[in-house]
Amino acid sequence: MKAYRAAILRFDPEREAARSAIYEEDGLLVVGPDASGTQRVLAVGPYRELHQGFPDVPIEHLPGRILAPGFVDMHLHFPQTNVIASPADGLLPWLDNHTYPEESRFSDPVYCAESAAFFIAELLRNGVTTALAFASSHPASVTALFEQALQQGLRMIAGLCLMDRHAPPGVLNRAGADGRFDATEQSLIDSEALIKTWHGRNRLGYAITPRFAPSCSEAQLRGAGELAARYPEVWIQSHVAENQDEIEWARALFPASSSYLATYGDFGLLRERAVYAHCLHFDDADRALMRVSGAAAAVCPSSNLFLGSGYFDYAAADRAGMLYGLASDVGGGTSFSPFHTMLAAYYVGRHGQGRPALSLSPQNLWWQHTAGAAQALGLAGVVGNLVPGCEADFVVLNPQATPLLARRTACANSLDELLFALIVLGDDRLIERTVISQALLTIAAN
Ligand code: GUN
Ligand code: ZN
Repeated sequence: MKAYRAAILRFDPEREAARSAIYEEDGLLVVGPDASGTQRVLAVGPYRELHQGFPDVPIEHLPGRILAPGFVDMHLHFPQTNVIASPADGLLPWLDNHTYPEESRFSDPVYCAESAAFFIAELLRNGVTTALAFASSHPASVTALFEQALQQGLRMIAGLCLMDRHAPPGVLNRAGADGRFDATEQSLIDSEALIKTWHGRNRLGYAITPRFAPSCSEAQLRGAGELAARYPEVWIQSHVAENQDEIEWARALFPASSSYLATYGDFGLLRERAVYAHCLHFDDADRALMRVSGAAAAVCPSSNLFLGSGYFDYAAADRAGMLYGLASDVGGGTSFSPFHTMLAAYYVGRHGQGRPALSLSPQNLWWQHTAGAAQALGLAGVVGNLVPGCEADFVVLNPQATPLLARRTACANSLDELLFALIVLGDDRLIERTVISQALLTIAAN
């Protein structure tokens, strides 16, 4: 067992709907291994109340620091690290001119391994301890990503990108080497083999990953849905309703479905543990479909602002009771840093787009990237919070990390002021350390 004394930020699991944080100025976090060796939170609360209950446990005192749950990134792309900061006239030209050429490089296992090591390290350096990621359409990219996640201890959910049409050959799924199976069949066979190898191994999870309806044939979507029915415990991830041109394309390809989102439902791809990136141009019927199916939205504000895709409608999502959480969407998104993503989400709320402007509270923004995102992934009580039973994934924040952070946080008069200063001024420099529950691996970030 081990304990940490510092300020501690966490969320009240009994009051999930309130999205309000509990903040201990002088807190104690006690962690210890379960039967499998995973470190879990054993106790958390005010130092003065707790410490006498753990007289023999060594305490690391971190004065001036804040412990907070490791961040949960609900959607990003492993093969798009080098795509960040590639401007384009919207989603479809961005895919054609920047994204597909870079993703085609992941046919090379050596490039996959080098990129995976960087990608996982960069997530951890930014305080992200759980992620749901697309790999490329090449099985070697999935293997490289899971191997690195295992080695570096990050809780990773990922899958082989399914795309058998409407893209250059270098990024399409490929037929089996012996010619027995075409590209579509092979992509489904590969997905199932990857589920069997990786899903549930240590902290890894598999996600069936149709890229988006326009890049998948009917046969591929049907096969993905059949796989999802056979493996109800695995995740599903895709994109929906991000961009007007994309939506028109999807509607033209699947005219029998009542909406773009409904297309996924028609193939058995809307259920709990299904995560759809963007969900921008929805109507209330789509939102109701999300709620009844238990699917969740990955809100990607920095990507949506960068590509000019649109603005997530928070008020409508809340009225519908949809699950959602925050995501970087690297490389459409502009940063691995959860602070950048939370700030972009704040801008999205303020923008309004003809709707009343919102001021998302800093506690709400933080919740969306931790406990809220975990809940949307079906991992509430497992990650994204620092309450007893949760895996001990956390960040050590140093509010003195930059002169401006030190100056602004020193005059914060409330928790909201403090958290806002961290969100607006923070980046990877704020993450002094990322602590991972796997045998207490510690990543000295900055
Ligand atoms: N839609 C289909 N593929 C992608 C992608 O890689 N990024 C984004 N933002 N949207 C997509
Ligand atoms: Zn994406």
